[in-house]
Amino acid sequence: MALAPLQVDVWRGREDGGFQRFEVPRQPSQTVLDVVTYIQRHLDTALSYRFACRVGMCGSCAMMVNGRPRWTCRTHVDKVSEGGLVQLAPLANFPVVKDLVADMREFFDKWARAGGQFVPGATRQDAFAVVDPASAKRREADAGIECIGCGVCYAACDVVAWKPDYLGPAALNRAWTLENDVRDQGGSGRRAAVASDAGCHACHTLMSCTEHCPKHLSPTRAIAGLKRATWRIALGDEE
Ligand code: SF4
Ligand code: SF4
Ligand code: FES
Repeated sequence: MALAPLQVDVWRGREDGGFQRFEVPRQPSQTVLDVVTYIQRHLDTALSYRFACRVGMCGSCAMMVNGRPRWTCRTHVDKVSEGGLVQLAPLANFPVVKDLVADMREFFDKWARAGGQFVPGATRQDAFAVVDPASAKRREADAGIECIGCGVCYAACDVVAWKPDYLGPAALNRAWTLENDVRDQGGSGRRAAVASDAGCHACHTLMSCTEHCPKHLSPTRAIAGLKRATWRIALGDEE
């Protein structure tokens, strides 16, 4: 027996927009991204949304699905539809460009403000750095390095919502990854940046970022590491 069509409420316009309902035929193993693509191709070609890889590698398809941030290409309709209804909106805590497209500029500006750029110390004449894979710092860096900047954690974080200048879980996770990269020379400037009012000490350890990260990373753990590192400096235990 054919399944009843899915009812899909889709955000249209900018912040002052509203939801528009579409009816989409059900398919086996249908993802939420399949649903959005069907709407754009068959029902309203003016719908704006973002995706690239469709296989959970790029993170660009992230949006709010029934109020929760998710990668839509890795989310099956069966898992999230509530009574045959799905609601789709752009990522929370981001400005809206249009429809389902969030403006990521401030999110990545915060990576820069958190010192998220690698600062090289070696020249091309130096030998390759040798980093023991079993060392504590390398293991700590490995724990956060797979972040792909999708913004799901940032959309899930209540502190970002309350305090718009908060650097947020992804930028702080990146800062902690670099803090543990023994080749990086940006340590003191980065630690000063993340110790600011908008930095790691604003995190309330609510764990929402960690619960939502599709890569199963733990920005909360990374932020705890930054808190320890910045406290040690404040107490004079380190340079
Ligand atoms: S920490 Fe996870 S949820 Fe946050 S941006 Fe990186 S991959 Fe996405
Ligand atoms: S643990 Fe910190 S960064 Fe993560 S969601 Fe909670 S307040 Fe935000
Ligand atoms: S389209 Fe790349 S992660 Fe979904």
